[in-house]
Amino acid sequence: MEPVRFGVIGAGVIANLIVSKLNSGSPAKVVAVADVNPEAAQKLAATAGTSNIYADYHQLLADPEVQAVYIATPPFLHKPMTIDALRAGKHVCCEKPFVLTRQEVLDIMAVNREFPQLKVNCCSSRYHNTGTARKARDLIAGGDLGEVYRVHFEQVTGGYKVGTKFPAWRNEPAKNGGGISFDWGPYDLDWLAFILGDLFQPRVVFGTTGNYFPLTAERVPPCLDVDGRLAAEIICDNGLTIHWERRAAEHGPARHNVEVRGRKAGLDLCFLPMGDKQQLHHYAYVGAEEIKETILPEAAPGWDDTLMHSLLDLAGAIQENRATTGTMANSVKIHGIFDALLESARTKQAVTIPA
Ligand SMILES: NC(=O)c1ccc[n+]([C@@H]2O[C@H](COP(=O)([O-])OP(=O)(O)OC[C@H]3O[C@@H](n4cnc5c(N)ncnc54)[C@H](O)[C@@H]3O)[C@@H](O)[C@H]2O)c1
Repeated sequence: MEPVRFGVIGAGVIANLIVSKLNSGSPAKVVAVADVNPEAAQKLAATAGTSNIYADYHQLLADPEVQAVYIATPPFLHKPMTIDALRAGKHVCCEKPFVLTRQEVLDIMAVNREFPQLKVNCCSSRYHNTGTARKARDLIAGGDLGEVYRVHFEQVTGGYKVGTKFPAWRNEPAKNGGGISFDWGPYDLDWLAFILGDLFQPRVVFGTTGNYFPLTAERVPPCLDVDGRLAAEIICDNGLTIHWERRAAEHGPARHNVEVRGRKAGLDLCFLPMGDKQQLHHYAYVGAEEIKETILPEAAPGWDDTLMHSLLDLAGAIQENRATTGTMANSVKIHGIFDALLESARTKQAVTIPA
């Protein structure tokens, strides 16, 4: 099958990584690049093997050769670029965070309804593509765990390397939504939405955030004006409660811990392709026996597959006329949680997500 012809908007760090992983067997190929920075556009176009370079992304959207766009610009540009792309008749794979608010997801969905043949997905779905995530999803949907009442999701990452530099937009909440919350949070929540399926019905959020701080005079995070930690309780319509915690750059070790507990069995698993628990651990008491642990033979997540999942999933979905693993319905829930988390952190009150 012919690869889907993508135009890339935004030729920065992640676009370079993604495009460098595409090869002749991929279901996607890059036929055009747009960036306001001509050198960046030139460099990425050379990697992609195309000479179609545009300074203005509207020109790329007018290029009939382009079937779909991969949007890899700073987050505040995602909504206008996605809507412009849909109006120009292009499918969209957008980097995470998809947008900045729940209302922005609804605005995009309204335009998508005018062009229902066009598919939109977000790279927050990147971590769906692991054996452990798929197996956990199947076990939960199949009732193996019984009624799932509790999810504990805790991810802690280490301090930034001394001298790490970030582009300015990463230190401006108006441009990126927040710090670690909007950087890693979309992955956390999209992954939870994927493994929990219909059980993921977030309704009430009570949460806190706190900003990055210098660990020492030498080890200063590159973005001090945005959050570097969050902790939230998420209560779902069905009574399931989710503890969601993410912390970065603190005086403590990295930690990756996901526990899913049901009335019949529990699961421990990894979210990232790193950490102690690379496999899927299944726990259950049976009869009078001591608790039984079964390590399910699921491969640890592969990094390149994870990185490329959303783009290749969209390409496959276009070729096969099927849905992508990440859905707009879940983006509404994810950004509902973000809206509520920020309001809860500000007001110190629990916040209800609109139905
Ligand atoms: N850096 C990473 O490791 C990483 C990983 C996963 C996802 N992401 C996400 O990808 C997106 C981009 O991140 P990045 O780190 O590559 O950023 P970056 O700053 O390296 O690159 C952004 C690019 O967008 C270009 N740009 C800005 N305004 C534009 C416009 N109006 N039209 C066309 N191009 C424009 C910039 O010139 C720049 O080349 C963000 O949403 C980020 O969260 C980044």
